[in-house]
Amino acid sequence: MKTYERISIVGVLLLFVLILAECRKENKNNGNNNQQIADGKQTFRFDTYGDESFWSGLLHLDSAIAGAQNGGYGPGVSPKTALAVGLKVDATALPPDVVAGIQAGTISLDDPATTLALLKLGAVVGVKGTFSSAGKLQAIGVTCAICHSTVDNSFSAGIGNRLDGWPNRDLNVGAIISLTDNAKPVASLLHVDEPTLRTVLGLWGPGKFAAILFMDGKALKPDGTVAANLIPAAFGLKDVKLTTYTGWGDIMYWNGFVANLEMHGKGSFSDPRLNNSTKYPIAVENGFFDVINNPDLITSKLPALAAYQHSIAAPRPPAGTFDATAAAAGRMIFTNKAKCASCHSGPAYADNVLHTGAEIGIDDFEASRSPTDKYRTTPLGGLFTRSKGGYYHDGRFATLNDVVDHYNTSMSLDLTTTDKSSLVEYLKSL
Ligand code: HEC
Ligand code: HEC
Repeated sequence: MKTYERISIVGVLLLFVLILAECRKENKNNGNNNQQIADGKQTFRFDTYGDESFWSGLLHLDSAIAGAQNGGYGPGVSPKTALAVGLKVDATALPPDVVAGIQAGTISLDDPATTLALLKLGAVVGVKGTFSSAGKLQAIGVTCAICHSTVDNSFSAGIGNRLDGWPNRDLNVGAIISLTDNAKPVASLLHVDEPTLRTVLGLWGPGKFAAILFMDGKALKPDGTVAANLIPAAFGLKDVKLTTYTGWGDIMYWNGFVANLEMHGKGSFSDPRLNNSTKYPIAVENGFFDVINNPDLITSKLPALAAYQHSIAAPRPPAGTFDATAAAAGRMIFTNKAKCASCHSGPAYADNVLHTGAEIGIDDFEASRSPTDKYRTTPLGGLFTRSKGGYYHDGRFATLNDVVDHYNTSMSLDLTTTDKSSLVEYLKSL
């Protein structure tokens, strides 16, 4: 064998070894990523971060759910009531005898005791019950899934397989908080009386929550209507750098914000921007700009939580829910004539840029409550999952037609009737 032949054989062998080593590394990374995503999924669905001290300790929601008959107070929350306020049931958590019982009507959906049984099975999406060894409900906590998951209704309305990341636009958060017999602490936090608090909670309606109310105390918009935002999608965010309607920060930042300041989990959180008594009087009074808990049940979980959310792609609309030919024409209008793609660009249909209210033809109220003073371009993937409750942060446009009409007027786009309907079909196809 000639020397150069020997060298090239050694070279090829070496390359082979290198490739093998690289493949191993890749596999290991994928393994780690998969593990992280699995951990994040568990956290997203089931972790309360110790928020029971708020939802049960302060608001006594465990006793409200149980009802007087089961050692709590009031009528209790039957499965029918729970479904009526938009809570969802994970059908895969139900054992066959329970499924059979519900189908045969031998398990009553009018009895709060059934709700307790469902909680014991871990079947109520986003609500976690803690039970004593004797089987008594001791505490209730909520998880991210209560707002950011729904079910596919495959068993019956409100009962089915989990759909993580889909906003629960049926969930009436205000009505759920109103179940409390102890509204006083929340009312005093906001410097209002209890009846006022209950009125505001009653005005939110399904699919909405007012996260910034607990920072700035602004329950109403300048026009006197209630200020509450639609629960957004928590999928399709892989390429989204700025989260929330007003771009408060990246996903890790916002997840930490919510877990600490809205769910009242026990973690650590710091944001000097909240230490501003003009803009965020409630946050300053309560030290929300610098929260420390020991042990911290949140911070170490944030990377996995973000990895899980980033792993959820925006779902595709079912075939037949839009006109494909019109959608193809609408795509051209979206890009060219209507200039939508100047902001709704890239894989998430979002430019990761902040815009003033004037740029999109609306008022600045909600923007001005954010440290950014602007609105973030909403990612448009999976729009069909959020057809309930309207569009834009507060649902001000009831339908996609209304959204398109708004842009047509405020941006003087001169769209024809056909342009507009094609554009709507395109939006439905995303
Ligand atoms: C009580 C309902 C509720 C709960 C519980 C909740 N969220 Fe949200 N979430 C909202 C609402 C409402 C917004 C919109 C906030 C805004 O922009 O005003 C939001 C926004 C978000 C966003 C931004 C989405 C986007 O388009 O940028 C992410 C990410 C998110 N939540 C993740 C979480 C995680 C993770 C948890 C659990 C730690 C959680 N949320 C718990 C209601 C909730
Ligand atoms: C100047 C940037 C900009 C342009 C141009 C623009 N958008 Fe938007 N879009 C935004 C912002 C910012 C929001 C968030 C508004 C809010 O939540 O109040 C938004 C929200 C939306 C929503 C609501 C999504 C939801 O889930 O609530 C739809 C639908 C939409 N845009 C479609 C379009 C269409 C169609 C066009 C073209 C006719 C267009 N946009 C042009 C920036 C833009």
